[in-house]
Amino acid sequence: MRKFVIKGNICYSKSINELCITQDGYVVCEDGICTGVYKKLPEHYEILPFYDYTDKIIIPGFTDLHIHAPQYPFRGFGMDLELIGWLNAHTFPEEAKYSDIEYAQNAYSIFTTDLLNSATTRACVFGTIHIPATILLMEKLDNAGIKAYVGKVNMDRNSPEYLCEKNAEQAFKDTEQWIKDSARFENVKPILTPRFIPACSDSLMEKLSVLQKKYQLPVQSHLSENTEEIQWVKELCPGTAFYGEAYNKYGLFGNGFPAIMAHCIHSNEDEINLIKEQNVFVAHCPESNTNLSSGIAPIRAYLNLGINTGLGTDIAAGSSLSVFKAMAMAIQCSKLRWRLQDQSLAPLGIKEVFYMATKGGGKFFGKTGSFEKGYEFDAVIIDDSTIKHPYKLNTMERLERLVYLAEDKNIVAKFVNGKKLFERTVSN
Ligand code: GUN
Ligand code: FE
Repeated sequence: MRKFVIKGNICYSKSINELCITQDGYVVCEDGICTGVYKKLPEHYEILPFYDYTDKIIIPGFTDLHIHAPQYPFRGFGMDLELIGWLNAHTFPEEAKYSDIEYAQNAYSIFTTDLLNSATTRACVFGTIHIPATILLMEKLDNAGIKAYVGKVNMDRNSPEYLCEKNAEQAFKDTEQWIKDSARFENVKPILTPRFIPACSDSLMEKLSVLQKKYQLPVQSHLSENTEEIQWVKELCPGTAFYGEAYNKYGLFGNGFPAIMAHCIHSNEDEINLIKEQNVFVAHCPESNTNLSSGIAPIRAYLNLGINTGLGTDIAAGSSLSVFKAMAMAIQCSKLRWRLQDQSLAPLGIKEVFYMATKGGGKFFGKTGSFEKGYEFDAVIIDDSTIKHPYKLNTMERLERLVYLAEDKNIVAKFVNGKKLFERTVSN
């Protein structure tokens, strides 16, 4: 049933500065697409099936623009190092375990169940270098009804022997096989995923560029996250003026194909200009920025320039799957950045982070992340009655405190493209 009406307190972004709230309103879904938000339901819709979520908060689902599924088991620990040390000590040993399909089966079941229970409806996900485990992850997300781009990770240099593709030729063959194997999914699509420049040889990048053109694939990777990493890229790619060029020279930085670069914390002016020019999406991962002591990305500057910007949890450099938490931390990090680093960039507020979590990141999937007419109908229904309060709050106040206080148990129903994934009641 993908034709229905929902009643409740409806909140959605039209733009970075425009957060629309219709208290006791109606939102209509027809064939998986949103056809309007109304204060009074037009008569001709009265015959449609009706979900009464009066007094609940209704928001579009969140897009998590950057998350590593295989890192979920070590979220919340191993935060004692910066990026390169952290990858070697914690990340690579964990990702190597996914050569064992039974381990992957167990770990990816836990991941998928938790993601389903969150407010996330769409995600751009890193897997590992392993084909069977990555296909299994895609199958689980597909069955759960979550819309996702999932990438088999590519890495063929500067990586431990136990987690390194044999050579560029083998990586090319494996990646093409994986692309073909992943064609059968309905909700989940492949995305090319060179891990980051230090782990990808020139020859591998050339071959990925061939695959991109042949199969018309989007790309996701990491960019300018850590100063030591940037210095390393400079040494590895002597002909490039800045990090982004090392992707761009292979056409893997936009160039007519959708691309997401996570972090962009230390991007210089030329790199920022290229991000803008090539319509590259920036995935801002504030919890990761702090846990790995990488720095804080200048998100206000990116928004001012009209760069496509969304939020990522970056599990396990981020500890939480919650995009609510990413929103709160984006505000908090921007305040510290403003106070301690650069007072020309004002802190972010609720409107901006809500936009990034919904319509901003959702844009990577097309028309998603809003209840404007013509958008795919993704909705999360929130019952905040467990968060007691001594007086009655208005919808805006309730939405704002949810950013800081929402737990998965408050999410009582979730719809993706008009399909209901679950419905439950909140328990104290
Ligand atoms: N750069 C390369 N790989 C990774 C990763 O797994 N996590 C983060 N945060 N940065 C990376
Ligand atoms: Fe990451």
